[in-house]
Amino acid sequence: MSRLLHEVLCTAPGDDVSKAVVVSTQAPPSCPEDGVVVAVAARPINPADLLLLQGRHVFTPTLPTNVGIEGAGVVVEAGARSQIAPGTRVAIPSGGTWRDRMALRDEGVLPLPADVDLEQAAMLSVNPFTVLGMLEGTKAGDTVLVNAATSAVSRLVCAAARRRGLRVVGVVRDERSLASVREAGATLALVDGPDLAARVRAEAPGPIALALDAVAGSASGRMFDALGDGGSLIVYGLLSSDKVELPAAGIVFRDVHVRGFSRLRAFAAMSATRRREITAELLQLLAEGVLETKIEARYPLTEVRAALEHHARPGRTGKILLTSDV
Ligand SMILES: NC(=O)c1ccc[n+]([C@@H]2O[C@H](COP(=O)([O-])OP(=O)(O)OC[C@H]3O[C@@H](n4cnc5c(N)ncnc54)[C@H](OP(=O)(O)O)[C@@H]3O)[C@@H](O)[C@H]2O)c1
Repeated sequence: MSRLLHEVLCTAPGDDVSKAVVVSTQAPPSCPEDGVVVAVAARPINPADLLLLQGRHVFTPTLPTNVGIEGAGVVVEAGARSQIAPGTRVAIPSGGTWRDRMALRDEGVLPLPADVDLEQAAMLSVNPFTVLGMLEGTKAGDTVLVNAATSAVSRLVCAAARRRGLRVVGVVRDERSLASVREAGATLALVDGPDLAARVRAEAPGPIALALDAVAGSASGRMFDALGDGGSLIVYGLLSSDKVELPAAGIVFRDVHVRGFSRLRAFAAMSATRRREITAELLQLLAEGVLETKIEARYPLTEVRAALEHHARPGRTGKILLTSDV
C-alpha cells in the first residue's frame, strides 16, 4: 500500500505561528508533460516563512495556502516531454515546498551535480543567492557591517567575504554570541547598542562600505550611522520591526545610499546569462563546502509545529529542516 502524502497549509496567520498551520493529506499531483514530480526530501524554516505565517509578508495569499520557499528532492516521475530523468536530485527554488510531492515544469527545478549534498541544496536558493546578490559591487579590501550576525545569511557573508578579500564586522544582540561570530570569520564582533557607530569607527579595520541590515526598526539607524561616507545601507530583513528608522539629518547631509534587497526581484532582473553564471557559482561554492549552512535540527514534515517551536528558541545556532522520506 502506498504511504500517505502530507502537506503543511497556512490557514490562520497570527502571532503564534504554530497555530497558523495545519498538516493535511495531499493528493498525488499529476505530472506535467514538460515537467516532473519531485519527492521533496528537505526544506528549511526561513524567516520569510514566518512572515507569511504571521501575516506580515507583503504578499497576502488566499487562504489556505501552501508554505515554504525552497527545498530539494528527487524526481519520481517525468512527463513525456521532460528533459529530466527520474532519480535526478534537484533543488527547488520556488514556493510551496512544505509538502511531500510537487509537480513542476523542467525550468522550475535545478538538477544537482552528484557532489552536492541534498540538504545543503535545499537551502541554496534563498540565502546563498541573497548573499552573492548583496555583495555584488564590493571590492577586495572593503569592510562590510552585518547585524543579526549569528544568522545563516551573515555566516554565509563571512564565508563569501573570505573568498573576495572583504572584511566583516558582525553585530549581535547578545554578548554570548560574540565568540561564534568571530569563529565564523568576522574580523570584529560587537554587541548592538546606542553607541554602535562610535565603536565601529574606533575598532573596525576601515570605513564601512556596505551595511547589511536584517533587523530594521531603530537598528537600521545605528547601521546607517556606522557607515562611511559614500557607503550603502541595504535593508533586507525585518526581524525586529515592520518599520525602518533613519536619522533625517544623516539622510540629508551624508552621501549614504539606502536601498532594499529582494532575492526574487534581483533574480527576475537578471539576464539569462547572469542567472546561469550565478547558479553555476553557487553550485561550485556549495560543492566546495564554502557556502555550507549549519543545521541545528531536523523534524519530519508532519511535526511542523514542534519544528516551529524549536525555531523560536533563543540561542539557536543553525537552521531547522523539515524532512520527508523519499
Ligand atoms: N530580502 C531577501 O531576499 C532575503 C533573503 C534571505 C533572507 N532574508 C532575511 O535575512 C534575515 C536572516 O535570515 P536567515 O535565514 O539567515 O535567518 P536565521 O538563520 O533564522 O537567523 C536569524 C537570526 O537573527 C537573530 N534575530 C532574530 N530576531 C532578532 C531581533 N529582533 N533582533 C536582532 N536579531 C534577531 C537571531 O539570532 P540570535 O538569537 O543569535 O540573536 C536569529 O537566529 C531574515 O530577516 C530574512 O528574512 C532576506
